[in-house]
Amino acid sequence: MFASNPFAELSASIPTVYMQGYIVVMILLVMGGTILDMLHKKSAQYFFENAKKAQKSAKRSVTGGEKVAIATSVLVKEVLTSGEFDNPRRRLSHLLTMWGTIIFIVTTAIMIFSPSSTSTLLPQLWHIGALMLAVGGYWFWFAIRVDVAAEGLSWFRLERADLFILSLLATSTFALIWSFTGGGVTVFFALFVLSSTVLFGGVYWSKFAHMFFKPAAAYQKKIIMADGGRENLPPDYDLTDPEVQRKFPDVPMYMGKNPPNMGLCIKAERADHY
Ligand code: HEM
Repeated sequence: MFASNPFAELSASIPTVYMQGYIVVMILLVMGGTILDMLHKKSAQYFFENAKKAQKSAKRSVTGGEKVAIATSVLVKEVLTSGEFDNPRRRLSHLLTMWGTIIFIVTTAIMIFSPSSTSTLLPQLWHIGALMLAVGGYWFWFAIRVDVAAEGLSWFRLERADLFILSLLATSTFALIWSFTGGGVTVFFALFVLSSTVLFGGVYWSKFAHMFFKPAAAYQKKIIMADGGRENLPPDYDLTDPEVQRKFPDVPMYMGKNPPNMGLCIKAERADHY
């Protein structure tokens, strides 16, 4: 079962061209939802205006070569390996969810667009992708979400912001149950199609589009560090540096002669005072 293509058997009841049409409609829905989301939140407009404003505080100009290096580092660190997450549990959960989703979606499209393929690798990857998504997603839902992990709220409290993760979980869960119960046109197939339609059709209302916006934001964040602008935030001062001590002569009055490095307060302790 792990190695058999559930869509090949389905084509006995549903013509392959309908399945291919469904995939095209889903792609159009994602594109439309992302564009509407950008227009509604004015995020692209804000992004470009903010980048222009940040450029005014730049201390130096970033060369083309540096921009390529920054874009490469964003691709390798933030995009491919979820490097924005400092917390290893959140990072691992995001890696499982993201790569599981990508593997699941890509193999679905390949299997549907090449129905005569006899590859056993594709169905195996399809199941592995769905399982990775389910493991990373349920881990996030029950244990990692800020509402649950840091605010002590119950895991079954729902908000519109949960549409993305819940539709991802429903899609992978019903896809796996559908395949494990033998495929075909069943109630599990209907639930699989319904949840994936909500996932791809709900982009305007969900966090789906973050996968396109986050890389751009990460790139911009690195540019303002490279050009010295830092969005007018102060530099990270080293209080043992004589130059810094000269600049802030009153620090010993408040913090003694050897001020300790306080670090990032956000990392001082886990938020669990509920
Ligand atoms: C198939 C692709 C992806 C999937 C399925 C995915 C999935 C998720 C999920 C389920 C969450 C938690 C959302 C929630 O709070 O409900 C999340 C958050 C996050 N993702 Fe992704 N993601 C993907 C791509 C990306 C990419 C490419 C980046 C960055 C370059 C990224 C960066 C982030 C960050 C920084 C957060 C946490 C901050 C926040 O909640 O805004 N993700 N992602």
